[in-house]
Amino acid sequence: MTDKKLTAPELMELENIFGAHNYHPLPVVLDRGEGVFVWDVDGKKYYDFLSAYSAVNQGHCHPKIINTLIGQAQKLTLTSRAFFNSQLGIYEEFVTSYFGYEKVLPMNTGAEAVETAIKLCRKWAYEKKGLKENSAQIVVCENNFHGRTTTIVSFSVDPDANTHFGPFTPGFIVIPYNDVKALEKVLNENPNIAGFLVEPIQGEAGAFVPDEGYLKACYELCSQHNVLFIADEVQTGIARTGKLLACDYENVHPDILILGKAMSGGVYPVSAVLSSNEIMEVIQPGQHGSTFGGNPLAAAVAISALDVIRDENLAENAFRLGEIFRNEMKAFCENSKIAMFVRGKGLLNALIINNEGHKNLAWDICVKLLENGLLAKPTHTNIIRFAPPLVITENQIYECIVIIKDTLKDFEQ
Ligand SMILES: Cc1ncc(COP(=O)(O)O)c(C=O)c1O
Repeated sequence: MTDKKLTAPELMELENIFGAHNYHPLPVVLDRGEGVFVWDVDGKKYYDFLSAYSAVNQGHCHPKIINTLIGQAQKLTLTSRAFFNSQLGIYEEFVTSYFGYEKVLPMNTGAEAVETAIKLCRKWAYEKKGLKENSAQIVVCENNFHGRTTTIVSFSVDPDANTHFGPFTPGFIVIPYNDVKALEKVLNENPNIAGFLVEPIQGEAGAFVPDEGYLKACYELCSQHNVLFIADEVQTGIARTGKLLACDYENVHPDILILGKAMSGGVYPVSAVLSSNEIMEVIQPGQHGSTFGGNPLAAAVAISALDVIRDENLAENAFRLGEIFRNEMKAFCENSKIAMFVRGKGLLNALIINNEGHKNLAWDICVKLLENGLLAKPTHTNIIRFAPPLVITENQIYECIVIIKDTLKDFEQ
């Protein structure tokens, strides 16, 4: 930590000059966070309605998680997996029982966990399903977002994500999202399908919720074809959508579950791939790993972060307050020229803006929201995602609804 006192414009300028321009942040420099609030370097307080893309579900700097972090950091942080450590086994037992799986493979970031799931699925296909070497295909969905590695952007349909990053990794078939028939067709026509990788709700696509029954129908099709159903719950998981997992809405238990972000409550990169003994046993020593994956600090922090989710009933809170938020915003949209509709589940919601004739409207609304004390970020030019920490209270959500409505009213002609 540095005590150097620089102004907000000076700090933004430093990032601008010395950092790669791979993000386009809103003009606010944050310095401190607690629960649902963050403060900028000038001491102005904001409601955080992004939660670091759903990593801070437990609220900023949750005292229980921070205490665990500090305690473990003073004891042992990293051993590598060349040795056993005193936290990992305890965490592995905890996390597998928490999510109902037999085995976990610990990683750090969401993208790494997705990569791990892809490797696991391919190896299972050759060693258990009996596909011919290098023939395995994984079905993915249009408008997916699974991270930024070369393999993952190979099956993105977003030109920003993949333009000039080729050559790409082969072995993926893209089908429309929320289209059971498309999955059925590809499974019937292609005997080399190893897995179906899907987000239960497409987060980066703007909280796009598929039709009820979609996940269940896809899961059943996958079972019939001996294809692994792989759920990427990096953004939707860990209570964000009003249940522990978004797949829980349809009682679907994915063959491979991918988690990240809120696994640590946003204090440390922790991700995980969970599966059965039968699938996980295809990975043997030396075949996959990560220096930091499964380190004692991550293990201890993740147990605390998942305890907080359960102890504070954050899934229930997200479910209840999400209903209030959508109902209020739906009513507002009925009489608004710029707010078209709201969608989402739990506290993963998005407002779709009519930006005809004002291309940057969603961005401009977010800048105004910032001035009014609430931080949210546009996605895809006309969508604003609203995803506060799940520790938000009913009074606070009503206060935020007022801020959002008042801000939107400023833009109505
Ligand atoms: C569904 C999903 N998968 C994977 C990722 C990638 O996670 P990370 O940024 O930690 O690599 C994200 C990030 O937003 C995500 O939303």
